[in-house]
Amino acid sequence: MKPIEWLGNKLKIIDQTQLPGKIAFAELRSYTKVVAAIKGLKVRGAPAIGVAAAYGIALGARNIKTENKAKFLSQLDKILQAFAAARLTAVNLFRAIDRMKKVATAADFTTIKQALIDEAKAIHAEEEAATERLSRLGAGLIKDGFTVLTHCNTGPLATAGYGTALGVIKAAVKQSKKIEVIATETRPLLQGARLTAWELMQEKIPVTLITDSMAGYFINKGKVNCVILGADRIAANGDTANKIGSYTLAVLAKENGIPFYVAAPTSTIDLSLSSGEEIPIEERNPEEVTDIGGVRLAPKGVKAANPAFDVTPHQYITAIITEKGIVREPYLRGLKKLVGK
Ligand code: MRU
Repeated sequence: MKPIEWLGNKLKIIDQTQLPGKIAFAELRSYTKVVAAIKGLKVRGAPAIGVAAAYGIALGARNIKTENKAKFLSQLDKILQAFAAARLTAVNLFRAIDRMKKVATAADFTTIKQALIDEAKAIHAEEEAATERLSRLGAGLIKDGFTVLTHCNTGPLATAGYGTALGVIKAAVKQSKKIEVIATETRPLLQGARLTAWELMQEKIPVTLITDSMAGYFINKGKVNCVILGADRIAANGDTANKIGSYTLAVLAKENGIPFYVAAPTSTIDLSLSSGEEIPIEERNPEEVTDIGGVRLAPKGVKAANPAFDVTPHQYITAIITEKGIVREPYLRGLKKLVGK
């Protein structure tokens, strides 16, 4: 089952908002539909957002009708802007937009639409290869018999590839290690309860679901050997933005002396930001907090806040696992070396 598939004239995605109740596919025939799918979290997770956006841009470009390259590029720019406004924190989105823009600018006008499709396919293939490789590398850190705690959702759905944190867990199981997973439900939108639990059950990997507030209890009782999660943006000093609640888990891990690992492809590293303070944090609709599954639970009129991500300072991170290698402190040097800058 492919979470994201390019069908030549449309983009087919699994509608993640309907999981696990229903495996529903959406066929997106226009770029505006792809933008809406990203905004509405039908497709989500940092690498998957980048892949979907790249195909969405190629789809939008396909429907531009002009014989003039300058006019084409100006229409394409509107499409790029629509994607840039879809989500805020995952840098993979902006990396994909930049790559598509560069290809369009450099391409010969007669082949420009095909060049954009080829670039989207290349971005997808690179994420597939990177997530598979980082998973294999990271699996070396997970010992036989480990119970691993993870947060949010980082499997194929979130990456359009093998997975980041979940990829590492899957690769460790593939190496015949006996692994148990504790998955946090991940309020407000329950990516852990809905998607991680489902993906692990598909893989037949033992998983126990807990509420976010139970993590300290299990970690303090010595029931967790390490915490591993993905990332939406990693600043040059190693500070990492990930789903809200990640910072809490990092502090708990440090306080209780267990490793806290971040697994991400290098497309999630943003060396243009010197620290996590510069990472933009997406604020989402407060209704995601006051309601669950469309049912209002909080009193009418209550004020609610909804930052979708938080930043874990680098000193809480034991290692960052990428397809090009595993980096530890000092992150600034390690990450720069890794991305070749
Ligand atoms: O808001 P989401 O569901 O797109 O957030 C996703 C996450 O925070 C994931 O943990 C992240 O993208 C990790 S990499 C797959």
